[in-house]
Amino acid sequence: MTLWGGRFSEPTDADLRALNDSIGFDKRMYAQDIAGSMVYAQAIAMAGVITQEEADTLVKGLQTVLAEFDAGIFELKPGDEDIHTAVERRLTELVGTVGGKLHTGRSRNDQVATDFRMWVVDALAGINRLVAQLQVALMEQAENHLHTVMPGYTHMQPAQPITAAHWLMSFFWMLSRDQERLIAASQRASSVSPLGAGALAGTPFPVDRAFLAEKLGFERVSQNSLDAVSDRDFVAEALFALALMGTHLSRLAEDIIIYSNPNFGYITLNDRYSTGSSIMPQKRNADPMELTRGKTGRLIGNLTGFLSTLKGIPSTYNKDLQEDKEAVMDSIDSVNLLLPVIIAIIRTLKLNPENMRAALTEDMLATDLAEYLVRKSLPFRQAHHIVGQAVQIAAQQGIGLSRLSAETLRGLSDLFTEDVKAVFDFDASVARRKAAGGTAPDAVTEQIALAMTWMDDHSAS
Ligand code: ARG
Repeated sequence: MTLWGGRFSEPTDADLRALNDSIGFDKRMYAQDIAGSMVYAQAIAMAGVITQEEADTLVKGLQTVLAEFDAGIFELKPGDEDIHTAVERRLTELVGTVGGKLHTGRSRNDQVATDFRMWVVDALAGINRLVAQLQVALMEQAENHLHTVMPGYTHMQPAQPITAAHWLMSFFWMLSRDQERLIAASQRASSVSPLGAGALAGTPFPVDRAFLAEKLGFERVSQNSLDAVSDRDFVAEALFALALMGTHLSRLAEDIIIYSNPNFGYITLNDRYSTGSSIMPQKRNADPMELTRGKTGRLIGNLTGFLSTLKGIPSTYNKDLQEDKEAVMDSIDSVNLLLPVIIAIIRTLKLNPENMRAALTEDMLATDLAEYLVRKSLPFRQAHHIVGQAVQIAAQQGIGLSRLSAETLRGLSDLFTEDVKAVFDFDASVARRKAAGGTAPDAVTEQIALAMTWMDDHSAS
């Protein structure tokens, strides 16, 4: 029943099959597996292992198998241990004994490493496209809120006024690095072709490995067959890129959860992307954001879990490596579920500039007040101390900083004059931070222009 049954006198135990079989998930690689086999048939014909006629028969048969998978009518049979076995079994049914020649010089070890590299490249390309859409959605919202001023936080405590555009764009740049990492992970996956490494020692047939590599979209051939069959660095790198992106999405989610809380009221999620409570009629929950936060735990778990798998395995292929597929597929599936919803949430997010402005308090201008003294040549440290005293007095009197009397201020420093009133202006505070990368509308306009250039440089990659 199995491909390798010859040396056994008893059939494999059913419980072992359930544990051992990977067809349940690796059937998702059917297109890559069949593409690899078509090119391999050609390569062994070129090497004189089979005739060109036999190769043509194999390729035709493989086309039929592919069509069956594409149409969803491929029938799995007991003994179809994994995608490689299933394809070969069906091929042999279709073309007869010549089907048994396809595997000459090849092992499932170099085959699976090749297939999965190709699968990861395709899967990451899909994620790239979604991330780009999210980046565009953030830029578009930012463009509409260049002059919307909101509280900025450090330590989750009110810190300084910022523009909402600047807040939104901060996530653009996190995602830009994520994109770069996803692209790098994809390049790593397609950098070398393991095909022709055989089980571990290489192939004894003169197959043109460079031809195989080129036809399957790899840059070059692997240089060490032992390494080639067990190298899953590309898997760990893909898992890391996805986990770190998840971490960024989770932080965005956390901001959205907090800012949409009615006690903040800075933003409102569109009804289509909010959920209610079965008991509390007033509730408007941000479940998709909580799920983003929650699923990030899986993404990190898939990375750390697979690294743990890798660290213990002795040289070359060991069955532990079969764990690579479910880890990556789960991370890819999770991100593919999350991103369309997150994109839609950002696109439809309603910002509430009045609530943001209402939450601004004058103590957020304390730094500006210190800077006022600095402009009058006071060393910043002294200015910081004097304004600290002003903040304390204002708090004692239960008033805002701007309402401190001229005498009180002059008591702290004679550098305070009438023009100090101009400090207490949130828009002016924001506008002053116009050095590159600052929160001023002018700087953010420049930032968005650079973001667009970044998008142009990284599109379609
Ligand atoms: N299903 C296996 C995997 O995913 C394919 C390779 C099996 N190789 C072997 N020698 N049993 O890793």
